[in-house]
Amino acid sequence: MTEATAVRRAVRSLFDPRGCPDPYPHYAVLRTHAPALRLPDGRILLSRHAECDRVLRNPAFRVEDEQWMDANLPGAGEHPAVHSLMAEMVNCNPPHHERLRRLVGTAFSPRRIAELRPAVTALVDSLLDRLAAGAGAGAAVDFMSGFALPLPITVIGELLGLPEADRAWFAPRVEAVTRAIEQDLTGEALKTADRAVEELWERLGDLVEQRRRDPRPDLVSTLIAAREADGDRLSRRELLANLVLLYSAGYETTSNLLGNGLATLLSRPELLARLRAESGRIGPWVEEMLRHTPPITLASRWAAEDTELAGVPLRRGAEVLLLLGSANRDESRYPDPDRFDPDRPVAANLAFGAGAHYCLGAVLARMEAEIAFPALLARFPDIALAQLPERRQGFGALNGFAELPLLLGTR
Ligand code: HEM
Repeated sequence: MTEATAVRRAVRSLFDPRGCPDPYPHYAVLRTHAPALRLPDGRILLSRHAECDRVLRNPAFRVEDEQWMDANLPGAGEHPAVHSLMAEMVNCNPPHHERLRRLVGTAFSPRRIAELRPAVTALVDSLLDRLAAGAGAGAAVDFMSGFALPLPITVIGELLGLPEADRAWFAPRVEAVTRAIEQDLTGEALKTADRAVEELWERLGDLVEQRRRDPRPDLVSTLIAAREADGDRLSRRELLANLVLLYSAGYETTSNLLGNGLATLLSRPELLARLRAESGRIGPWVEEMLRHTPPITLASRWAAEDTELAGVPLRRGAEVLLLLGSANRDESRYPDPDRFDPDRPVAANLAFGAGAHYCLGAVLARMEAEIAFPALLARFPDIALAQLPERRQGFGALNGFAELPLLLGTR
């Protein structure tokens, strides 16, 4: 097969609308033969660590913000979902981005996250009890719906201060917004997301009013109070949009870290046995899970000036797709990259991005996983996959399982 044919095949497989169950061999073809590939629609696909990292850290590559949207998808901003998305910090560029990140960051400090540790530990234990109860006489239980989703949903709900009774109500609406992004903000998915955002804003708006009158030690109250030195505060739109962002960013990602990490362990019994023996050293294991099977595999930027990437010239305005899942398997940075190896020397991976938009919730996500895995393995000595799980379909940024059926064994 010629290089060009191999590259064409790799792209076809990666963009297959039915999904690509194993993208890693295709990423490897791109890294070797076409590290900066111009797609037929003009976008540039980047697959190596060096270029992905460079783009993420270089302010000349910008996220697709409100101005970009107005120029490229005129009228889209009239959709409530797009109006909300464009006020999220992840879709803002400097100087606006720094301001939002500072204001929200004050409420999201590492100290505040560390304070959550006892509550997360108790929650993990109670979810494991529920999982055990659900398993009954040797029946399979679904790890995703029984543990991996409820853990981060409850943690982010606690942190934000969402009333417990409302949490189940929030989840499908926030998921509708994620689905619309995966469908490039078009079609039925966008209409569903519009309705969802209107409802989310109404409910969150009520919560903000309550907290304004009666502040509590939660993130909503802290965000209402947060102000910069010159007295500048978050506008109502910024506040509501970034609450939706924190809620959504906080759980579909973390749930996939838990699901992907567990699937790796359960498919390699020797890893499982080793982690049981050294669960006090969980940090590097979670880091390797993030590198090996990252929950988000894709990010995008556009070039604000003419430039070049891996020898490919880019005109101002060109869109760039960053294959984070490929960057994390780049052999020039991680020898034998497909091997899961918790003893690798530390070399920062791109699972949480890099540069100005580096994940605000990285400390929280790591903490949840570092508490969850040792507790899960200690609780169920005979845990095993009930069947090989299927990856979620489609070329979305999210990488994980819809279901992960487990046999929990004797306890
Ligand atoms: C394993 C779990 C997680 C993964 C893999 C992950 C991944 C990422 C990535 C790749 C980005 C950068 C996107 C880009 O540059 O375009 C990002 C940004 C962000 N993440 Fe996470 N995330 C996780 C968990 C969380 C949690 C728990 C929260 C909050 C509760 C969170 C909140 C955010 C926010 C607010 C941003 C935007 C930061 C900015 O634009 O400055 N994430 N995340």
